Amino acid sequence: MKIAVLASGRGSNLAAILAYIKEHKINGEVVLILSDKKDAYALEIAAQAGITGKFIDPEQYSHRRIYDMALAEEIRAIGGELVVLAGFMRMLSPAFLAAFPQRVLNIHPSLLPSFAGLQAQKQALDYGVKISGCTVHFVDSGMDSGPIIAQRAVPVLEGDTVEKLTARILWEEHQLYPQVIGDIIEGRIELKGNKVVYQKED
Ligand code: GRF
Repeated sequence: MKIAVLASGRGSNLAAILAYIKEHKINGEVVLILSDKKDAYALEIAAQAGITGKFIDPEQYSHRRIYDMALAEEIRAIGGELVVLAGFMRMLSPAFLAAFPQRVLNIHPSLLPSFAGLQAQKQALDYGVKISGCTVHFVDSGMDSGPIIAQRAVPVLEGDTVEKLTARILWEEHQLYPQVIGDIIEGRIELKGNKVVYQKED
Protein backbone atom coordinates (compact mmCIF):
# COMPACT_ATOMS: atom_id res chain seq x y z
CA MET A 1 0.00 0.00 0.00
CA LYS A 2 1.26 3.45 -0.87
CA ILE A 3 1.50 5.73 2.14
CA ALA A 4 1.61 9.52 2.23
CA VAL A 5 2.90 11.14 5.43
CA LEU A 6 1.95 14.68 6.46
CA ALA A 7 4.31 16.26 8.97
CA SER A 8 5.02 19.74 10.30
CA GLY A 9 8.03 19.10 12.49
CA ARG A 10 10.91 16.90 13.50
CA GLY A 11 9.45 13.70 12.04
CA SER A 12 10.49 11.15 14.65
CA ASN A 13 7.31 9.14 14.03
CA LEU A 14 8.02 9.28 10.31
CA ALA A 15 11.51 7.93 10.98
CA ALA A 16 10.05 5.10 13.10
CA ILE A 17 7.62 4.17 10.31
CA LEU A 18 10.42 4.17 7.73
CA ALA A 19 12.51 1.92 10.01
CA TYR A 20 9.65 -0.60 10.26
CA ILE A 21 9.24 -0.58 6.49
CA LYS A 22 12.96 -1.16 6.04
CA GLU A 23 12.73 -4.17 8.34
CA HIS A 24 9.77 -5.47 6.28
CA LYS A 25 7.45 -5.16 9.26
CA ILE A 26 5.02 -3.02 7.24
CA ASN A 27 3.85 -4.20 3.85
CA GLY A 28 3.81 -0.72 2.40
CA GLU A 29 5.88 2.09 1.04
CA VAL A 30 6.06 5.79 1.90
CA VAL A 31 5.76 7.47 -1.50
CA LEU A 32 5.28 11.07 -0.43
CA ILE A 33 6.00 13.37 2.50
CA LEU A 34 4.16 16.67 2.59
CA SER A 35 4.74 19.51 4.99
CA ASP A 36 3.14 22.87 5.70
CA LYS A 37 6.45 24.07 7.20
CA LYS A 38 9.36 24.86 4.96
CA ASP A 39 12.01 23.95 7.51
CA ALA A 40 10.38 20.79 8.85
CA TYR A 41 13.04 18.20 9.63
CA ALA A 42 10.61 15.62 8.21
CA LEU A 43 11.50 16.98 4.75
CA GLU A 44 15.17 16.38 5.51
CA ILE A 45 14.32 12.79 6.48
CA ALA A 46 12.46 12.47 3.15
CA ALA A 47 15.51 13.70 1.24
CA GLN A 48 17.83 11.32 3.10
CA ALA A 49 15.51 8.39 2.37
CA GLY A 50 15.14 9.32 -1.31
CA ILE A 51 11.39 9.89 -0.92
CA THR A 52 9.56 12.75 -2.63
CA GLY A 53 9.13 15.51 -0.05
CA LYS A 54 7.24 18.72 -0.68
CA PHE A 55 6.61 21.90 1.22
CA ILE A 56 3.13 23.14 0.33
CA ASP A 57 2.84 26.69 1.56
CA PRO A 58 -0.54 27.41 3.21
CA GLU A 59 -0.04 31.11 2.58
CA GLN A 60 -0.38 30.54 -1.13
CA TYR A 61 -3.98 29.40 -0.72
CA SER A 62 -6.96 31.60 0.09
CA HIS A 63 -8.92 29.02 2.11
CA ARG A 64 -8.14 26.03 4.24
CA ARG A 65 -10.35 23.83 2.05
CA ILE A 66 -8.47 24.82 -1.12
CA TYR A 67 -5.14 24.14 0.59
CA ASP A 68 -6.38 20.75 1.77
CA MET A 69 -7.55 19.85 -1.72
CA ALA A 70 -4.10 20.74 -3.05
CA LEU A 71 -2.66 18.26 -0.55
CA ALA A 72 -5.23 15.66 -1.62
CA GLU A 73 -4.33 16.21 -5.26
CA GLU A 74 -0.62 15.66 -4.56
CA ILE A 75 -1.45 12.44 -2.74
CA ARG A 76 -3.80 11.23 -5.44
CA ALA A 77 -1.33 12.07 -8.23
CA ILE A 78 1.29 9.81 -6.71
CA GLY A 79 -1.18 7.01 -5.96
CA GLY A 80 -1.24 7.46 -2.17
CA GLU A 81 -3.85 5.25 -0.52
CA LEU A 82 -3.19 5.70 3.19
CA VAL A 83 -2.63 9.12 4.75
CA VAL A 84 -0.60 9.20 7.94
CA LEU A 85 -0.48 12.38 10.01
CA ALA A 86 2.73 12.48 11.98
CA GLY A 87 2.91 15.74 13.88
CA PHE A 88 0.87 17.60 11.25
CA MET A 89 -0.32 20.73 13.00
CA ARG A 90 -3.38 21.54 10.92
CA MET A 91 -6.95 20.31 10.99
CA LEU A 92 -8.11 18.71 7.75
CA SER A 93 -11.38 19.76 6.15
CA PRO A 94 -14.22 17.30 5.47
CA ALA A 95 -13.54 17.49 1.71
CA PHE A 96 -10.01 16.14 2.26
CA LEU A 97 -11.27 13.36 4.53
CA ALA A 98 -13.96 12.41 1.98
CA ALA A 99 -11.21 11.84 -0.58
CA PHE A 100 -9.64 9.11 1.63
CA PRO A 101 -12.48 7.48 3.56
CA GLN A 102 -11.23 5.55 6.62
CA ARG A 103 -7.72 6.02 5.34
CA VAL A 104 -6.47 9.00 7.38
CA LEU A 105 -4.68 8.25 10.66
CA ASN A 106 -3.30 10.41 13.43
CA ILE A 107 -1.29 9.87 16.59
CA HIS A 108 -1.81 12.02 19.65
CA PRO A 109 0.35 12.15 22.81
CA SER A 110 -2.38 11.54 25.38
CA LEU A 111 -4.98 8.95 26.22
CA LEU A 112 -7.88 10.45 24.28
CA PRO A 113 -10.47 11.70 24.84
CA SER A 114 -8.44 13.36 27.61
CA PHE A 115 -6.17 16.24 26.65
CA ALA A 116 -6.95 16.76 22.98
CA GLY A 117 -5.34 19.68 21.19
CA LEU A 118 -2.00 21.34 21.74
CA GLN A 119 0.51 20.59 24.51
CA ALA A 120 -1.20 17.38 25.56
CA GLN A 121 1.70 16.37 27.83
CA LYS A 122 1.59 19.70 29.67
CA GLN A 123 -2.19 19.42 29.99
CA ALA A 124 -1.74 15.96 31.58
CA LEU A 125 0.90 17.21 34.01
CA ASP A 126 -1.11 20.29 34.93
CA TYR A 127 -4.18 18.15 35.59
CA GLY A 128 -2.20 15.75 37.75
CA VAL A 129 -3.15 12.47 36.10
CA LYS A 130 -1.05 9.47 37.13
CA ILE A 131 -1.25 7.68 33.77
CA SER A 132 -0.95 9.16 30.31
CA GLY A 133 0.10 7.74 26.95
CA CYS A 134 -0.64 7.94 23.26
CA THR A 135 -3.57 7.24 20.98
CA VAL A 136 -3.77 6.30 17.31
CA HIS A 137 -7.12 7.17 15.78
CA PHE A 138 -8.94 7.64 12.53
CA VAL A 139 -9.18 11.31 11.69
CA ASP A 140 -12.54 13.00 11.53
CA SER A 141 -13.25 16.69 11.12
CA GLY A 142 -13.00 17.36 14.88
CA MET A 143 -9.92 17.99 16.98
CA ASP A 144 -8.36 14.60 17.89
CA SER A 145 -11.88 13.19 18.07
CA GLY A 146 -12.02 10.35 15.55
CA PRO A 147 -12.60 6.67 16.40
CA ILE A 148 -9.81 5.26 18.58
CA ILE A 149 -7.78 2.43 17.08
CA ALA A 150 -5.15 1.74 19.75
CA GLN A 151 -3.60 3.23 22.87
CA ARG A 152 -0.49 2.74 24.97
CA ALA A 153 -0.23 3.92 28.56
CA VAL A 154 2.78 5.25 30.46
CA PRO A 155 3.04 6.25 34.12
CA VAL A 156 3.34 9.89 35.09
CA LEU A 157 6.11 9.91 37.66
CA GLU A 158 6.83 12.08 40.66
CA GLY A 159 9.00 15.01 39.53
CA ASP A 160 8.15 14.58 35.84
CA THR A 161 8.75 17.50 33.50
CA VAL A 162 7.05 18.03 30.14
CA GLU A 163 10.29 16.90 28.49
CA LYS A 164 10.54 13.67 30.48
CA LEU A 165 6.90 12.75 29.97
CA THR A 166 7.10 13.64 26.28
CA ALA A 167 10.10 11.33 25.80
CA ARG A 168 8.39 8.46 27.66
CA ILE A 169 5.26 8.81 25.52
CA LEU A 170 7.24 9.25 22.30
CA TRP A 171 9.00 5.94 22.87
CA GLU A 172 5.58 4.24 22.90
CA GLU A 173 4.43 6.24 19.87
CA HIS A 174 7.34 4.90 17.87
CA GLN A 175 6.18 1.30 18.47
CA LEU A 176 2.43 1.81 18.34
CA TYR A 177 2.08 3.89 15.19
CA PRO A 178 4.06 1.59 12.88
CA GLN A 179 2.24 -1.46 14.31
CA VAL A 180 -1.16 0.07 13.62
CA ILE A 181 -0.14 1.10 10.11
CA GLY A 182 1.04 -2.45 9.43
CA ASP A 183 -2.22 -3.87 10.77
CA ILE A 184 -4.36 -1.44 8.74
CA ILE A 185 -2.55 -2.62 5.63
CA GLU A 186 -3.08 -6.27 6.60
CA GLY A 187 -6.82 -5.60 6.95
CA ARG A 188 -6.91 -6.28 10.70
CA ILE A 189 -8.52 -2.97 11.57
CA GLU A 190 -12.07 -2.20 10.61
CA LEU A 191 -14.44 0.62 11.41
CA LYS A 192 -17.93 -0.59 12.34
CA GLY A 193 -20.15 2.40 12.90
CA ASN A 194 -18.09 4.58 15.20
CA LYS A 195 -16.15 1.72 16.80
CA VAL A 196 -12.96 0.09 15.70
CA VAL A 197 -12.69 -3.68 15.53
CA TYR A 198 -9.04 -4.67 15.82
CA GLN A 199 -8.03 -8.27 15.20
CA LYS A 200 -4.71 -8.70 16.95
CA GLU A 201 -2.28 -11.37 15.79
CA ASP A 202 -2.22 -14.46 18.05
C1 GRF B 1 4.03 13.54 18.45
O1 GRF B 1 4.07 13.72 19.84
C2 GRF B 1 2.65 13.17 18.00
O2 GRF B 1 1.95 12.42 18.94
C3 GRF B 1 2.01 14.52 17.83
O3 GRF B 1 3.01 15.35 17.33
C4 GRF B 1 4.29 14.85 17.71
C5 GRF B 1 5.06 14.64 16.46
O4 GRF B 1 6.39 14.30 16.72
N1 GRF B 1 0.86 14.44 16.96
P1 GRF B 1 7.36 13.87 15.54
O5 GRF B 1 7.37 15.02 14.53
O6 GRF B 1 6.82 12.61 14.94
O7 GRF B 1 8.70 13.70 16.19
